[in-house]
Amino acid sequence: MQQAEAFLTTRKEEDTAYAGEMLGRILTGPLTVALEGELGAGKTVFVRGAARGLDVKEQVSSPTFVLLKIYPGRLPVYHFDFYRLSGDGDEELELGFEEYLPGDGVAFIEWAGRLPHLLPPDYLHVIIELFHDRFGDGRRLRFIPHGPAAEQVVETLSEAITRRTDGSLHREQPGS
Ligand SMILES: Nc1ncnc2c1ncn2[C@@H]1O[C@H](COP(=O)(O)OP(=O)(O)OP(=O)(O)O)[C@@H](O)[C@H]1O
Ligand SMILES: [Mg+2]
Repeated sequence: MQQAEAFLTTRKEEDTAYAGEMLGRILTGPLTVALEGELGAGKTVFVRGAARGLDVKEQVSSPTFVLLKIYPGRLPVYHFDFYRLSGDGDEELELGFEEYLPGDGVAFIEWAGRLPHLLPPDYLHVIIELFHDRFGDGRRLRFIPHGPAAEQVVETLSEAITRRTDGSLHREQPGS
């Protein structure tokens, strides 16, 4: 069976943050979210919104140089950035990443593709792609579930996206 994906496009930073916020709001239990997209795609912007949806009061900033930041919220938020990791295994052992993946909270991992073996079997893959058309720059966000917990989340997120009617976010059908 093909797992359902959700798609949407954004034209502004705030809309990408809002997409994250919608995801954060619907989460009720631990989940790992792997974020993929080039430098400046909007991964940190998305996590900032997701943290807001999880009632994190602190302002989220990029963890690129510290590798992990932890924020208290409705669920604990673990914000990783694997950009600077080489994948030779030393850093992961030192940092003990495994205990958070999956842990008691929501783990957001920028550049998760650097250390793919750390991903648990059930995770949500969020891919952010830049595009340019006659209206200017935009971001295409794809939500691809791997495993039953992530699938449930994507289903609920699809409904939330569809319910939004002010036009700033619109769901795209696969293949459209
Ligand atoms: N539609 C959009 N969604 C998100 N960010 C946007 C959008 N349009 C423009 N931007 C800009 O793109 C940048 C995204 O930065 P951000 O730090 O979130 O990227 P990143 O994917 O985390 O990069 P890095 O790999 O360096 O961590 C911000 O400067 C933001 O203002
Ligand atoms: Mg970032």
